[in-house]
Amino acid sequence: MNQESQLTRLGLFDARVPRYTSYPTAPHFSDSVGPAQFAEWIEAIPAGSSISLYMHVPFCRTLCWFCACRTQGTQSDDPVRAYAEVLLAELKMLKERLAPGVTLSRLHWGGGTPTLMPPDMIRRVAAAVYEAVPMGEGAEFSVEIDPNEIDDARMDALAESGLNRASIGVQDFDPEIQKVIGREQSYEVTAGAVAMIRARGVTSLNADILYGLPHQTEARISESVNKLLSLRPDRVALYGYAHVPWMARRQVMIPTDHLPTPQERLQLFETARRLFVAAGYDEIGIDHFALPTDGLARALKAGQLKRNFQGYTDDQAPVLVGLGASSISRFPQGFAQNAPATSAHTQAIRAARFSTVRGHVFTPEDLLRARLIEAIMCDFRIDAEEILRSFSITPARLAEMFAATKAVFGEMVEISPAGLFIPEPARPLTRMIARSFDAYDLSKSGHSSAI
Ligand SMILES: C[S@@+](CC[C@H](N)C(=O)[O-])C[C@H]1O[C@@H](n2cnc3c(N)ncnc32)[C@H](O)[C@@H]1O
Ligand code: SF4
Repeated sequence: MNQESQLTRLGLFDARVPRYTSYPTAPHFSDSVGPAQFAEWIEAIPAGSSISLYMHVPFCRTLCWFCACRTQGTQSDDPVRAYAEVLLAELKMLKERLAPGVTLSRLHWGGGTPTLMPPDMIRRVAAAVYEAVPMGEGAEFSVEIDPNEIDDARMDALAESGLNRASIGVQDFDPEIQKVIGREQSYEVTAGAVAMIRARGVTSLNADILYGLPHQTEARISESVNKLLSLRPDRVALYGYAHVPWMARRQVMIPTDHLPTPQERLQLFETARRLFVAAGYDEIGIDHFALPTDGLARALKAGQLKRNFQGYTDDQAPVLVGLGASSISRFPQGFAQNAPATSAHTQAIRAARFSTVRGHVFTPEDLLRARLIEAIMCDFRIDAEEILRSFSITPARLAEMFAATKAVFGEMVEISPAGLFIPEPARPLTRMIARSFDAYDLSKSGHSSAI
């Protein structure tokens, strides 16, 4: 059997396999976690510890057809201002419940398009964050920036608020592809945004690009990657385009007859991957690349790469608090997700209630499996000694779990006394191998979150 048919047999081209930004994955959350539990977990954060904050801003000026993010279009600033007021109220509620001396490890604003907030709002929201949770030693503040939706005034507001990392959406530079996916953004606009960001001393810049888009060919993705390389981002996220119109209705605008086949997707990824590696980037997990000087590359080498809802991270804080509609928080005790709809979230906060609607309380078994999956997704290996040291599992049971995976994946996984290892040619199967440790997904019943 050639490599491609082996990969097909083992499920490589099954779009429903999760990306494991959490374990259990969000579709397995239940209503067992609500606002009272969330408040209790916030109050249990030890005084003087370090936490991270994610703030979701679910608005964009226009909606790109390809996008599966939770966001809504608005031509006016009014809903954005009203929403920012809700974030301010939510921050106040957080502050009231936090123990003294808690400091910030990472602050990330995502969306949607957080830069839709006018400059005065950017300043007010950032100031309120620092009032609730002051920045700790080596803290990072990053924002997702749409190059079509940024100017000097908003960049100045971000820089004055302590921005030191940024992420821009590129997707693809090819004009025909941009038209078909409903996202037009010239190279000049992107280069202008990069210059604006760099001019303010932001040293760590990430760019998102996609493979698997309609009309993409190896020649076209090579050209896009080379254009991106000319801007020398510190990190790149090379995501596979997830075509999930049943979840993101705007994707019905995208014609399916020019989508690459699964085999072509694999080739597109490989083509882009080789170019990044040749340009000196380190490969980070399944879909990221980073210059060796970047924090992600350093975390990988130090064995400290982690996975959270934003993807790969070098953040070591034990708590991530998600603010805003649909955001998910992670505590040592479990996950808590806010109301997905902006209106429901707003209503709850205005009534001085957290908007938590779903979540999950960890069992010891969850924590074990979460680490096994994270190790596979980050390092392509599970270190048996680390697992036996950190969890109450017998060597025999761990060996049994490895054997069950080996029985499905054969030579695509190597088992030894040191643990489990995924050799290079089997890396496209990483998510599938991770899934073999997922006790909730073994039924293969649910649709996973696709991006
Ligand atoms: C919130 S958006 C980026 C921020 C900003 N609004 C922008 O457009 O530049 C986050 C990223 O998710 C990725 N994304 C969105 N929809 C996707 C899909 N259907 N499949 C894969 N990745 C997707 C894109 O790469 C996008 O840059
Ligand atoms: S890609 Fe960015 S700008 Fe486009 S709809 Fe998604 S979040 Fe909004």
